[in-house]
Amino acid sequence: MTATHASAESLFTAGRSHSSWLPKPVSEAQLRALYELAQWAPTSMNCQPMRLRWVVTAPSKQRLIDCLYEGNKAKSEHAPVVVIVGQDLDFPATLPRLFPHKTDAQAYYSGKPDLVASTALRNSSLQGAYLIMAARALGLDCGPMSGFDMQAVDAAFWSGTTVRTNFLCNIGYADHAQVKPRGPRLPFDEACTIV
Ligand SMILES: Cc1cc2nc3c(=O)[nH]c(=O)nc-3n(C[C@H](O)[C@H](O)[C@H](O)COP(=O)(O)O)c2cc1C
Repeated sequence: MTATHASAESLFTAGRSHSSWLPKPVSEAQLRALYELAQWAPTSMNCQPMRLRWVVTAPSKQRLIDCLYEGNKAKSEHAPVVVIVGQDLDFPATLPRLFPHKTDAQAYYSGKPDLVASTALRNSSLQGAYLIMAARALGLDCGPMSGFDMQAVDAAFWSGTTVRTNFLCNIGYADHAQVKPRGPRLPFDEACTIV
C-alpha cells in the first residue's frame, strides 16, 4: 500500500497498538519509505533530535529482548522490526545546518542541559509519533513500548554516542484477531477547554 491510500480510518480510528505479529517480513526499502514520510515532522528550530536504530537481525533482537520487561519480550520477539527511537542530546551541533537563518541557534542551548534534555525529549517524541503514523500510512502496524530497562538499552545500542533511548516500537503486520478491545478515550469536555 502506498501513502496515497491512507485515510483517517487507517491512521486513527482503526489504528491500534499491536502486540501479536504475522510472520511477514518488512524490507529495508519499506523502512526507508517510512523515514521518508516521518522526516516531515515539525520540530522546534527544525532540530530533529530523533535517531533510529532498526533492530532486525537475530543477534541484535536478542540483545534488545534481554533489556525488555518480561511481559514485553514475546511482543518484540515475533515482530519483524523493532525500532529504538532515540534522542540525540547533541542536537544543537546540527542547528547551523538545519536552521541556518538563525545564526545563534546553537549558542542558545550552550550550558543549558535541562533545556537540551526537554527539547530533545519533546521533539523526538513528536517525531516518534509521526513515525507511527507514517508506518500506518504505509499499511504497517505498530506497537509502541516503554516497558524496558532504559539504561540497559542505552548501553547495548547507543554506547559511545550522545543518543539516549526515548521509546521502542514494534513494527510489522499485526495479527488483528489478537488485539485487545479498544480502551476508552477521554471525551472532549473532560480533556479540553476552549478559552
Ligand atoms: C510511549 C508508549 C509506551 C507504551 N508501552 C507499552 C509497553 O511497555 N507494553 C505494552 O504492551 N504496551 C505499551 N504501550 C501501548 C499502550 O498501552 C497503548 O498504546 C494504549 O493502551 C492505547 O491502545 P490503542 O492504541 O490500541 O488504542 C505503550 C504505548 C506508548 C505510546
